Amino acid sequence: MSVIRDHFEKEIPQVSFKDVSFSWPGKKENVISKCNFAIEKTGLWMIVGENGSGKSTFLKLINGIIKPNNGKVNSLAKVGMVFQNPDHQILMPNCRSELLIHISQEISKKAIVCKIENVLDKVGLPGFETRPVHTLSGGQKQRLTIACALISDKNFILLDEPTALLDPTSQLKVVKTIKKLTIDKETPLTALWITHRYEELIYADAVAEMKNGNLSEWQQPSKFQYN
Ligand SMILES: Nc1ncnc2c1ncn2[C@@H]1O[C@H](COP(=O)(O)OP(=O)(O)OP(=O)(O)O)[C@@H](O)[C@H]1O
Ligand SMILES: [Mg+2]
Repeated sequence: MSVIRDHFEKEIPQVSFKDVSFSWPGKKENVISKCNFAIEKTGLWMIVGENGSGKSTFLKLINGIIKPNNGKVNSLAKVGMVFQNPDHQILMPNCRSELLIHISQEISKKAIVCKIENVLDKVGLPGFETRPVHTLSGGQKQRLTIACALISDKNFILLDEPTALLDPTSQLKVVKTIKKLTIDKETPLTALWITHRYEELIYADAVAEMKNGNLSEWQQPSKFQYN
């Protein structure tokens, strides 16, 4: 029984903080201060908070770019990242070559073709294999960066204001793409999404606010908006 449970728990991309504090070098004040939080289920989790409240720093602690001064970051997840500006992230000239550099394991050519087709379908870019990246819209580029995370088998995607540079139509497509991936029946994803756009909160399973170096309790999006 416990073997089954252990296996099941490993399949869930859990991330948690225990009393995590962090200050940037040369600065006395903690940006993140005795912060505790946990995500133990798949779904779309959103974070809001004022400019400079530490949201991006928080994501960097989760994906291990920076280490806490105190406390512990626990992660069983394969963490991927989507930034605000896809041009800072995409390296290759077309969709296929960009996806190829994110495949880490040795697999056959046939399996590669299949995987590329599959992830492009999942992000709503079917048939885009040979499309030059410079011909993609901002929203299509963001969905390509999501496909890159999928093809490298990430199961926990951090998105730092992924729609900030997009028009309303592209914004909607990106948030709906992520939402769909988080409720996928076979391999549901966990997504942690930072936003200043409150109209996006209706897609969240839970919302929290970053304030004074701490993350609030997870709350229902509806409750959160009217607080
Ligand atoms: N690389 C860095 N070196 C030094 N200080 C930094 C660095 N990155 C961020 N900071 C500082 O840490 C604090 C929190 O910044 P952070 O970028 O995490 O906030 P944020 O909530 O993401 O803000 P925004 O909504 O504007 O993106 C700010 O005071 C910022 O100046
Ligand atoms: Mg930020």
